Amino acid sequence: MPITTPLTELLGIRHPILSAPMDTIAGSRLTRAVSEAGGFGILGGGYGDRGRLQAEAAELRGFAPFGIGFITWSLAKQPELLDIALDARPQAVMLSFGDPAPFAPRIKASGARLICQVQTEAMAKQALDAGAEILIAQGTEAGGHGASRTTVGIVPDIVDLAAGRVPVVAAGGIADGRGLAAMMMLGASGVLIGTRFYASVEANGAEGAKQRIRTADGNGTVRGVVPDWSRKLFWPAPFTARTLVNSHIKAWTGREIELLQRADEIVKDYAAAKMAGDFEIAAVFAGEAVGLIHDIPPAAEIVERIAAEAEQLLEGRRNSVVGAFPSPHVGEGGAQRRMRGSIHGE
Ligand SMILES: Cc1cc2nc3c(=O)[nH]c(=O)nc-3n(C[C@H](O)[C@H](O)[C@H](O)COP(=O)(O)O)c2cc1C
Repeated sequence: MPITTPLTELLGIRHPILSAPMDTIAGSRLTRAVSEAGGFGILGGGYGDRGRLQAEAAELRGFAPFGIGFITWSLAKQPELLDIALDARPQAVMLSFGDPAPFAPRIKASGARLICQVQTEAMAKQALDAGAEILIAQGTEAGGHGASRTTVGIVPDIVDLAAGRVPVVAAGGIADGRGLAAMMMLGASGVLIGTRFYASVEANGAEGAKQRIRTADGNGTVRGVVPDWSRKLFWPAPFTARTLVNSHIKAWTGREIELLQRADEIVKDYAAAKMAGDFEIAAVFAGEAVGLIHDIPPAAEIVERIAAEAEQLLEGRRNSVVGAFPSPHVGEGGAQRRMRGSIHGE
């Protein structure tokens, strides 16, 4: 029995599983595969390569449902890219890492839903003020850029803050049905997953990078600035990047000032390594969920496995969990109502 939540109803999808707009890794092929399997695929807008965005968005025009995601501070430098995205008629546009307000009116006027990924309560308030219709609460376990709060802490905080006005989706460290079921117990309406979909057939990543994700254990990632500064890419605070640990990161962590002083030389070596697929120097952006990833299947299989496992867990535990622990924070019966609404659409 599929899990019905306010998120699945709002987006008209079968499973409460979104694939993350992982810059160049999440192309139209992955986006389409996730949506066709009953999830919601989100194309990565990345750092604003216009030609790539045009080509990838064209592949999705007329297809439904799908979303397109942007790094907000990067979009602010090329705001016209939003028109290219909206021309493809996505059902949603996802904005992360910056103030969504300048873009919200155009997105909403197009009929697309505005999804905002947030890392703190202040960012969630800003997103709600801008008119966000779905909030993604991202924890520090996430692959790629993020901040410092843990998923298990930030998700219920944002759920309480949203207070039922918009669905809240959990992101960071989720790779299987246990993660989806656990996030629903925290009040989330679904999950946004990046790293698990990176290790899929349809993701654009190099085979060598996917194999590193498959074989890494949960201790094999670190959050920091070395991968960005090695490209002379300077993200605004509080954002840092989580990647697999490699020789380059081991060598430069704790020596970031020296890295900046030698940036001209390092940038060249780093770019050459990236071109050559040398992942002992070039970073593989991935989250702590790597410890749960042991294969590289088609994306549809990932969606189906996660959904089936979560359905089984929630069904098995429903009677023992629902109603057993009313939360003092949300008023009488509030937690119970929210959980019931999250499981099988009761
Ligand atoms: C390789 C990679 C690239 C990412 N690039 C982006 C991006 O361009 N824009 C964005 O909003 N989030 C990006 N993210 C973060 C995701 O939106 C999401 O928060 C994260 O993948 C969730 O955690 P997980 O990787 O543990 O599933 C990226 C994540 C990964 C793994």
